[in-house]
Amino acid sequence: MSEKASYDIPTPHGGYHSRGGESESLGLTHTPRRASALNTIVASVALLFILVSQVWSTYWRFKLPPLEHVPSNGSEGVARLPFMGFNTWNAYHCDINESIIVENARLMETLGLLGAGYNYMNIDDCYSEKKRSPEGDIVAHKTRFPSGMKALTNEIHQLGMKAGIYGDSGWFTCQLYPGSFQNELRDARLFQLEWGFDLLKFDNCAVPFDHIIREGIVGKYQRMADAISQVSKEPGKLPMVFSLCQWGREQPWLWGKRFSQSWRTTGDIEPTWRSIASIINQNSFITWASDFYGHNDMDILEVGNGALTYEEEKAHFTAWALMKSPLLIGADLASVSKEALEILKNEDVIAINQDPVVGTAISPFRWGINPDWVSNETHPAQYWSDESANGTVFMLLNTLDEPADMFFNLTESPWIRAGRKYSVRDLWSHSENGTAIRNFTAQGVPAHGVIALLLRDAGDEPEALEPPCVRPEWCMDQNGTLIESGVSNSHLDL
Ligand code: GAL
Repeated sequence: MSEKASYDIPTPHGGYHSRGGESESLGLTHTPRRASALNTIVASVALLFILVSQVWSTYWRFKLPPLEHVPSNGSEGVARLPFMGFNTWNAYHCDINESIIVENARLMETLGLLGAGYNYMNIDDCYSEKKRSPEGDIVAHKTRFPSGMKALTNEIHQLGMKAGIYGDSGWFTCQLYPGSFQNELRDARLFQLEWGFDLLKFDNCAVPFDHIIREGIVGKYQRMADAISQVSKEPGKLPMVFSLCQWGREQPWLWGKRFSQSWRTTGDIEPTWRSIASIINQNSFITWASDFYGHNDMDILEVGNGALTYEEEKAHFTAWALMKSPLLIGADLASVSKEALEILKNEDVIAINQDPVVGTAISPFRWGINPDWVSNETHPAQYWSDESANGTVFMLLNTLDEPADMFFNLTESPWIRAGRKYSVRDLWSHSENGTAIRNFTAQGVPAHGVIALLLRDAGDEPEALEPPCVRPEWCMDQNGTLIESGVSNSHLDL
């Protein structure tokens, strides 16, 4: 009986096919033993398929990097984090030569700056002869760089650093040395393959006439981006880091990420509080543009250049680092003060800039003196926060010309959990500063001074704190009682 067991399945026409056993109507000619062998094979294949697909999906889950924007622009993922190093411009302007660069490179090592993460040695404008060679190449300045650029980058590389060079997207650099317009591939090859540079800062002076260029700003910079990408196809070459210097004129934060790793957002920095405050103000509106592989460049640091107070230098450095700008030292290291060095080497602050887990920048959660979203060159936003690998980071900026107390409720930051308490680390005193419950007050923040804090979750806040919500808007009991500003003032019929 069992051998002949059959069951019926409906046909599309309403009749029934009989399955099982030998069945003429379905043209099935296999015997029952054959049928059970077939079933076993089908089941094994299905099992094998499930197993293989499980293994395959597990493999990919672990193989794939975490979800983040990895550039598909030929940059091969260079400069995932803001680059750190030294740039010649702020301290020396055009007064540069090979010994200045080698001396500062050695000092980077002996002063512990290389160890702190500053590993790029970048040469700015004025390193070349005014005219290209008869063959059309840029030529290193014969008396100021007598050993040639290859010897210089060799020396820099031997010190364990990378080397950066400067160029311009127009006919000339801003100091009227040769620019790269229409020579992009030739120059990219020279910079990287012959001279051995790892990074190119690319400026915006001496713009060709419209009827020659016939491109917008994006197209003008794309020319060198394409050249860099082409040169990097040589075996064993990563692309040069491409650092746009476009002074924020045509919103490079909207397009720079397509083919570069950083873009200047503002005009040239000066060693004055006015300049620092105005750069912070302008960048406070575009913090969203920075993340892994692409960063708002707030310009070379002025820490150590003598014209800022100690408090201003701390505020300047904190803002640049926490806003994830590249950090390029711009001071003469032979004469840099102990205080400036201490600022530049602040490990707690650098750790946020170089956070391997969270790539975003701090953003204002309250402007403070001004209503939110108001642009004010002398009084930028004061209360800032962001996530970090080790907790929520806060920056409080006293933009007033006198000391001030600064207060915030923790949950004003989107990265803080209601009903929890937080341990507080001060990123300048490098000490644990107790526990914050609901709010925090920094007393007597110096004029133009900064407070940088890392808040870490330390468990539930104490029971029965009043008011039941720190955030006064729409605070409600489950029974429908609305409790605004800590007072139960109405009952809504549910
Ligand atoms: C400016 C640039 C400065 C410096 C200078 C050199 O355009 O913003 O950082 O590179 O050119 O001439």
